[in-house]
Amino acid sequence: MADASPTVLDGGGLWGASLRIFAALPSTNAWLLDHAADARHGDAVRALHQTAGRGRFNRNWISPADRGLALSVLIGAAGITPETVTLFTPATALAVAEALAERGLPAMVKWPNDVLVRGRKIAGILAERDQRSGAIVIGIGLNVNLTPGDFAAQPLLHPATSVFIETGVPDDPGPLATRVLHHLEQQLHPESLAQPRALWEQWARRDALHGLRIRVATAIETLEGLYLGTAHDGALRLRTDDGQDHVLFTGDVSATRTAPPQTR
Ligand code: BTN
Repeated sequence: MADASPTVLDGGGLWGASLRIFAALPSTNAWLLDHAADARHGDAVRALHQTAGRGRFNRNWISPADRGLALSVLIGAAGITPETVTLFTPATALAVAEALAERGLPAMVKWPNDVLVRGRKIAGILAERDQRSGAIVIGIGLNVNLTPGDFAAQPLLHPATSVFIETGVPDDPGPLATRVLHHLEQQLHPESLAQPRALWEQWARRDALHGLRIRVATAIETLEGLYLGTAHDGALRLRTDDGQDHVLFTGDVSATRTAPPQTR
């Protein structure tokens, strides 16, 4: 693995842990999973260029040099319980949305792991578990200075955007990473995680799917219907046209069209 010595910023991770910055890595998630046994709770890893970034469902995630933010954070096993395990991804999406809102961007979240601006995906979250230590690595991919040409070079399932495309101004991924980590530290504080209701209220305020008809593709079926929001365990709730309510824990969501007004 090409991991020349990183710059180590003590205290740059969460709760006083370290932030390591590599010039290039295949995947920050893969690096942190490989080093999970020696890592501290809150340790973070960033790559200026990520050469083999991975997304959900084994998709690729492009993060070209200085145009993407590729960042991963380790949550130690001691901080993971059946109640908190479902909260790390949505809490991280909210932290990214808050950092983007500081830039004046109308950032919204889309179940289960996306951040959108004006209906286009600007960031994705990938949480992966290290089976040996029980730690979770949360990976954040944020399109900072990517251009339409970067997206045209690869097939995309959902339309994508970047901070640069939205603002017309190049941004520096470094300070953005600092702001994301700042908000993440608050979102993942044990007191915040003990209050999932507050987290889901924040989610509802930024929910890109609110009031929409959606299609959810899972490994076994595709369901279409009215999005009813999220449950407090992180599940997606959907009402299909036969009036049945469904609760889904995984899937790929597309908005189909605006829902008609509800009649009683
Ligand atoms: C998705 O939307 O499918 C999730 C994308 C997650 C990409 C990030 S970039 C940093 C970290 N390292 C990886 O290899 N993937 C995540």
